[in-house]
Amino acid sequence: MRMYEIINRKKQGEILTDQEIQFMIQGYTRGEIPDYQMSALMMAICFQGMNEEETLAFTLAMRDSGKVLDLSQIEGIKVDKHSTGGVGDKTSLVLAPMVASLGIPVAKMSGRGLGHTGGTIDKLECFPGFSTELTESQFYQNVNQIKLAIMGQTADLAPADKKLYALRDVTATVDQISLIASSIMSKKLAAGADAIVLDVKTGNGAFMKQEEDAFALAKEMVRIGKNAGKKMTAVVTDMSQPLGNAIGNSLEVKEAILSLNGLGPADFMEVVYALGREMVLAAGKAETAEEAEYLLKETIQKKTALDKLAEFVEAQGGDKQLVYQPELLPTGAVQLQVMNTEKGFVSGIQAEEIGLASLDLGGGRMTKESSIDLSVGLLLNKKRGDAVNPGDTLATIYANDMEKAKKAYGRVVRAYEIQEEKTGPVPMIKGILR
Ligand code: URA
Repeated sequence: MRMYEIINRKKQGEILTDQEIQFMIQGYTRGEIPDYQMSALMMAICFQGMNEEETLAFTLAMRDSGKVLDLSQIEGIKVDKHSTGGVGDKTSLVLAPMVASLGIPVAKMSGRGLGHTGGTIDKLECFPGFSTELTESQFYQNVNQIKLAIMGQTADLAPADKKLYALRDVTATVDQISLIASSIMSKKLAAGADAIVLDVKTGNGAFMKQEEDAFALAKEMVRIGKNAGKKMTAVVTDMSQPLGNAIGNSLEVKEAILSLNGLGPADFMEVVYALGREMVLAAGKAETAEEAEYLLKETIQKKTALDKLAEFVEAQGGDKQLVYQPELLPTGAVQLQVMNTEKGFVSGIQAEEIGLASLDLGGGRMTKESSIDLSVGLLLNKKRGDAVNPGDTLATIYANDMEKAKKAYGRVVRAYEIQEEKTGPVPMIKGILR
């Protein structure tokens, strides 16, 4: 088999065989196929696409390029949840303890934030001592004992995707739906859960800006997962303004703790419940969505989910006292209020711009190697639909450096869209695909 032939066949719009796909993924992972040939093939796929069989073969070959976790040591139906990433997305911090407190095993691999979107591991590291560097046996043991463990994504999980994603990133070949779907799903399949609930975000702060692209991606990922034998659901959710009110690591942890105390922002909780219902149904803990929601609400009312978060933080070396005293979490020393100058209603908040403001404050990473300041970020005092008058505070910036706070100020002002008339509500849940 020759890579030249494979590139040429795809260039002509032909269908690649399973053997050809395995040959090129294995050869690329081992360093036998050079980047220039792989980038030519990626570009040909961008123009010619891949059909269902090719996309599945591509995903499975990437899954099998490294370690595939065997979660059979964990009792019960293992449900994983994945978000395509957004601004202010602290959903896992709330959902994982809610679901685990219902006895559903949550064995999750999470990542760090990059660019304008955050990552669950950075947020969890706001608890002093917390570590996601668990051995596999510790990971299984924790899930069996307390139903919840979160581990950092190991380097040997889908290494072909790691190498290929870096190549696509610099060759303008990221934005092809089958390539994105197989990239995400190869990692999810390697993580070994029985059921996967996907949160596919759409809107200005999301990877998929257009709703139809988000649905196409969701459909493709559900299809891949099902073909690989997994129980699949994708929920397409709104990211046309930041989710909830807090953006930035420790501010988001505080908001997650507020939410577990029953005081979560409405837009955020709507997404939490939509994903939670699907996780509870997938785990077979409820017969109907109403029953699933009832069970989830009880975990908040009875504070069992809050106690589960504390138990989980302690099991991974963190200080659980902060779960009950979130005011002790680090907060930027400089606070700057962003003042409104117009009368009207907030009609939109550019989520990406807010994410970039948090990045400017030092709360995010420009590159994978950058260090971050967990204590900085923003609290949005006004959200879409709110009436505003001149002199009102739109948002509060938490920083450790006045110059950075001033730079972020400009971005926040640009992010807010104010109109005279109130615009209609935007649904948080755009659709559910199974
Ligand atoms: N996220 C991924 O993991 N892969 C892609 O290709 C795009 C976004």
